[in-house]
Amino acid sequence: MRVVIARDYEDLSKKAATFIAMEVRSRPESVLGLATGSTPLGTYKELVRMHRKGLDFSRVVTFNLDEYYRLAPEHPQSYHNFMNENFFNQVNIKKSNVHIPDGLTSDVDKFCAEYERTIKQKGGIDIQLLGIGRDGHLGFNEPGSSLGSRTRLKTLTEETVRDNARFFSNPDDVPRLAITMGVGTILDARKLLLIASGGAKAEAVKASIEGPITSQVTATVLQLHPHVICVVDEAAARLLSRRDYYTYVEKVAATVQENAHI
Ligand code: GLP
Repeated sequence: MRVVIARDYEDLSKKAATFIAMEVRSRPESVLGLATGSTPLGTYKELVRMHRKGLDFSRVVTFNLDEYYRLAPEHPQSYHNFMNENFFNQVNIKKSNVHIPDGLTSDVDKFCAEYERTIKQKGGIDIQLLGIGRDGHLGFNEPGSSLGSRTRLKTLTEETVRDNARFFSNPDDVPRLAITMGVGTILDARKLLLIASGGAKAEAVKASIEGPITSQVTATVLQLHPHVICVVDEAAARLLSRRDYYTYVEKVAATVQENAHI
C-alpha cells in the first residue's frame, strides 16, 4: 500500500486528480469508479481544470459507488445530482457512459445484479476513487458488511445518517438506506485510490491502514488489495504510527524516478 501524505486539502486534491488523469491519459477508454461526499469535491474541481487544458473524457466510462435509496435523481442531495453538478456537466463525458445506482429501482436485487454485470461487461473498473466514513466505511459498506459483499441495499448507521444530515435542510429527510457497491465489488477494481482529509478522519485512516483487517472497519480491506494509493492530508495522517516511513518511501521513489531519467 502506498501512503502519500499531502500538505493540505488542496495538495491532496491535486495529487488524487493527477493519479486519475494519468490513468485516463494512458488509456482514454478507462473505466473509472467514482465517489461522492465532500472529500472528492476538490479532486473533481482539479479534473475539470485539467479537462479545460485538454484532458479528454469522451471515451471514459464511469461507475459510482452508491446512491440513496428512494431519492430521485433530480433531488438536490441525490448522488446523481452531486455528480452532474460537480463533475459530469463540466467535462466531455458521454452521459451514456455514466453509471450510478438507481435509487428508485422497483426491483433492487435485479438492479444490483445488473450493475455488477455491467461493470464486468465494460471490462472492470481500472481505478476506483474512495472517500472514507468516520466509522471507516467505503461507499456505504457500514461496519459489519461482509468483506465479500456485492452491490446491494444497505442500512446506514445512525452516525452516517447524522454525518450526512448536514447536506439536507431537514435532517428527517436523510435516507436510511442506500444502494452501494459491495466490499467485494470494490476489491475487484484494478487500482484503489483512497482520499481522506481532516482530523475527523484520523482514527478511520489509522485503523484502515495500520489496524487489523475486520468487517467492523470495512476500509481495512485495502490491505488485501495489490494496488492501493492512499492520499491523506496532514490532519488525517495525524495518528499513523509509520508516517515517517511513508514519507521516506515517497522520497526514495522520487529519487529513483529522477535517476531513471538520467
Ligand atoms: C458517504 C459516502 C462515502 C463517503 C463518506 C464520507 O457515506 N457514501 O462514499 O466516503 O460519505 O464523506 P465525506 O467525504 O463528506 O466525509
